[in-house]
Amino acid sequence: MAFSVRDVPTFLRSAKTDARATALRRDFGAAEGFNRLYAELGDPWKSEARRRSSYQDRKNGKLVECLPAAQFDQVLDLGCGLGGLTRLLAGRAAQVTGTDVAASAIAGAKVASADFANLRYLQSDILNLPDEFTGRFDVVIVADVLYYIDPLPDALLKQAVAKITATLRPNGHCLVADHYFSGFDRDSRASVRIHDAFRWSPSLQHVSQRRGWFYVADLLRKSG
Ligand SMILES: C[S@@+](CC[C@H](N)C(=O)[O-])C[C@H]1O[C@@H](n2cnc3c(N)ncnc32)[C@H](O)[C@@H]1O
Repeated sequence: MAFSVRDVPTFLRSAKTDARATALRRDFGAAEGFNRLYAELGDPWKSEARRRSSYQDRKNGKLVECLPAAQFDQVLDLGCGLGGLTRLLAGRAAQVTGTDVAASAIAGAKVASADFANLRYLQSDILNLPDEFTGRFDVVIVADVLYYIDPLPDALLKQAVAKITATLRPNGHCLVADHYFSGFDRDSRASVRIHDAFRWSPSLQHVSQRRGWFYVADLLRKSG
């Protein structure tokens, strides 16, 4: 994916948003912190910005390309925000479920997705997924979510990976994507640690990796 100087304001804005998210989460916890972030900023990462070929649009397109070329039954988009990626998946599945810890994000995603009959949204913490998700999905996507859980000790990360994997049917696919810059900055190191936890999971096999400007995406398959 080509980098454009027109993306620079997006990255600067995202860094500012992340700093605000950290402060709100520290003061109010994840659910209320991210809720307030969306209430304050509307579209905190400008993922819905309608600029033609925005960074987020191009990146989402590349993420969808990472998935196997198939038509799916059930897809799960964890930490879906305002549902930009969820809507992009609407044509690839019988039903796509988007979840987010922030009630205000879920409300915004529902409004923005009113024209899509096969999308549903639920407010849920990625660390506490509903029992009804177990063994239900062909694909689960975790894009730019887990590194917002801070601190994320090894035991909690391992538990999160196990629970996310448990949402998949046998042979289902998990696509995990996160910020990646130099490999040396703090956020990139957090992303490497998260992706390693998926790669080392005994019930997942690594299928492929894609690196683009400021992101890394790994596709994994659950054992049959
Ligand atoms: C940078 S946005 C990514 C949104 C979307 N996945 C995308 O790629 O456009 C991060 C999202 O993760 C959500 N989030 C943060 N912590 C979460 C948690 N513990 N459980 C579920 N969602 C969470 C935030 O509310 C926010 O919508």
